[in-house]
Amino acid sequence: MCYLCASLKQSQMDKSLVAYLKNWFHSYVKSYKLNDPARQRNIDLKEKHTLRVCKEITEISRNLGLNEDEQCLSEIIALFHDIGRFEQYARYNTFLDSRSLNHAEFAVKILRENDVLNHLDASSRELILKAISYHNRATLPRHEDEVCLFFSRLLRDADKLDIWRVVTEYYRRKANGKQNNAIELGLPDTPGVSYDVSRALMAQKIVDTHNMKNLNDFKLLQVSWVYDVNFVPTFRRLKQKGYLDIIQKALPESDAIRKIFATVASYVDKKLQQKNSERIHKGYEINMNKEKK
Ligand SMILES: [Fe+2]
Repeated sequence: MCYLCASLKQSQMDKSLVAYLKNWFHSYVKSYKLNDPARQRNIDLKEKHTLRVCKEITEISRNLGLNEDEQCLSEIIALFHDIGRFEQYARYNTFLDSRSLNHAEFAVKILRENDVLNHLDASSRELILKAISYHNRATLPRHEDEVCLFFSRLLRDADKLDIWRVVTEYYRRKANGKQNNAIELGLPDTPGVSYDVSRALMAQKIVDTHNMKNLNDFKLLQVSWVYDVNFVPTFRRLKQKGYLDIIQKALPESDAIRKIFATVASYVDKKLQQKNSERIHKGYEINMNKEKK
C-alpha cells in the first residue's frame, strides 16, 4: 500500500494506470501539430521534457525508498505538470507565463475539464492537482499538508533536473550558432551580470526573475535553483551530469562568476555529504516514519 497516502487504493495506483494516462498524454500532445517546423520543435521539446521529468522523478523516488504506488503517484504528477504548455505555446507563441498565462494553473484547468484523473479517488486527485499548481511558484505555501508538500518538492526537483538538461544541451548547440527565443525568453545577449542577481547567488538565494536583465542573468538564475533543491539524490544527479560546469562555460570568465560558482559548488558538496537517511527534508521524514510502522 501507499505509505504516504493512506487513502490511495492499491488497485488504483499502479503501472497500468500510469500507462493509460501516458496514452492520454500522447494523444493530447498529438492534437498540437503546428505548421511551422520551428514552432513544432518547441512543442516536441516540451513533450520530451515531460517524459524526462517522469524518469527523473521515478529515479529520485526510488532512491528515496518510496514504494511502487508512491513512485506511480510521483510519475503521474510529473506526466501532467506541464500539460498547460502546449495550448500556451499554440495560443501565445511563448513559454513566458508573464506574457501569456500561468501554465501550472492552466494545467489544472485542462485536467479538470477533460476529467483526466477521474479514475483516481478524490484525495489523490486533489494532491496531484495541488502539486502541479505549486510547481512554478517561487516558494511552496506554508500551510499545506506535509504529504502534498513532499510530492510538490519531488516534482520541483525532477523538473529542475530536466530543465538543466534542456538548457545545457541548448548552450552546447548554441556554441554552433543556433538560437531559440522560446528557451532564451527573448532576453538580450548583452555583456555583464546584474548586481542583484550576483548578490542573490552569493547569499545562497534563488534569483528573483524580475531582476533578470540579460541572458547571463538567466543562466545564473538557473544556477541559483540549487538553493531550492530538496533531496540528496537530486544533488547527486546534478553533479554527475555536470550541469553547473556546462552553464559556467556558457558564461563570461570573471572573478565575480568564479566566486559565484565556488560558493555554489561548496553548497552542493555540503548537501552531498548528507546521506539519504539524514532526511534533509521534512517531507522525507513522513515516509521514513510511516515505513517504520
Ligand atoms: Fe517542467
